[in-house]
Amino acid sequence: MRVLGIETSCDETGVAIYDSDRGLVADLLYSQVSLHQEFGGVVPELASRDHIRKTLPMIDQALEESASTRDDIDAIAYTAGPGLVGALMVGASIAKSLAFAWNVPAIAIHHMEGHLLAPMLGDDKTDFPFLALLVSGGHTQLMACESLGQYEILGESVDDAAGEAFDKVAKMLGLGYPGGPAIANLAERGDRTRFRFPRPMTDRPGFDFSFSGLKTFTMNALRELGDKPTEQDKADIACAFQDAVVDTLRIKCRRAFEHSGLDTLVVAGGVSANVELRAALDELADKMNTRVSYPDLSLCTDNGAMIAYAGLARMQLGHTENLEINVRPRWPMTELERG
Ligand code: KG4
Ligand code: ZN
Repeated sequence: MRVLGIETSCDETGVAIYDSDRGLVADLLYSQVSLHQEFGGVVPELASRDHIRKTLPMIDQALEESASTRDDIDAIAYTAGPGLVGALMVGASIAKSLAFAWNVPAIAIHHMEGHLLAPMLGDDKTDFPFLALLVSGGHTQLMACESLGQYEILGESVDDAAGEAFDKVAKMLGLGYPGGPAIANLAERGDRTRFRFPRPMTDRPGFDFSFSGLKTFTMNALRELGDKPTEQDKADIACAFQDAVVDTLRIKCRRAFEHSGLDTLVVAGGVSANVELRAALDELADKMNTRVSYPDLSLCTDNGAMIAYAGLARMQLGHTENLEINVRPRWPMTELERG
């Protein structure tokens, strides 16, 4: 069985084909980063227009690269939300139209469920139940995952998502967009001991996060330096900020292990590419005699492969839908159909 996956929820056009026997047989990604860079963040209208330009040619290329024809495709999975409404509409319209023309089912995928299942695209065959830490540009969620679609949210960010905090602090430091990789690179040269940022909401029980206050700490640190920071000053601030985010996530994951009794943690979403975060969670898992599972580095940020894979998982449970084109820019994971 072959599933075509289409991801257009934000600033990446992802198209992939997943074969139930052979795994990924095509995986194409087009990043719009250079298009949005001069604006310091994603411009929704430009994103939609670029998805329109790229998606169909990429589908042709994916078919060609995997030596498939349209007759080999058994279903079309697409990101139906959450995300930018215009960008989502492009993927949904293309997926539904092709599904109608090719007479195959279309499957609406929750973008974060795509991220959640991404580690399973590799050799790591983690199975339910497990804990999940989803950390992306739009979400920070700690969940107990019972089975496909049955997710209990233990905690989430009450303000900025982890990736969003990286992006905003990067902007304050005059680094490029996206901010996560830029901060991570700069922090490598930073002095850990120079600034200490707080670990927000770790002094009270529960699993919620708040990263917005770290912007104020960044601003204050910059102000102390007379607003003329050297490269070393910026590296030291980047390091303090990254340490604060990583340590906060580690503390909440430790609590979630203790609270749930589950022994596996799946970490996914763009921020799961962060090397310091992986090192901290690996160390935690070692100490607690538990396991952590991550996607391959290339599958941490948005991609079509995770959507194709989630599409196959949902199709195997018999989940398909009618041809009405609906997207959900806001879509709580607790409202997903259960497996
Ligand atoms: O999952 P994703 O590609 O898109 C959303 O669904 O939001 O995540 C993008 C986010 C951005 O905020 C980006 O700055 C962050 O992931 N990110 C990172 C790293 N790579 C990407 N954050 C920290 N460290 C990284 N290495
Ligand atoms: Zn994402």
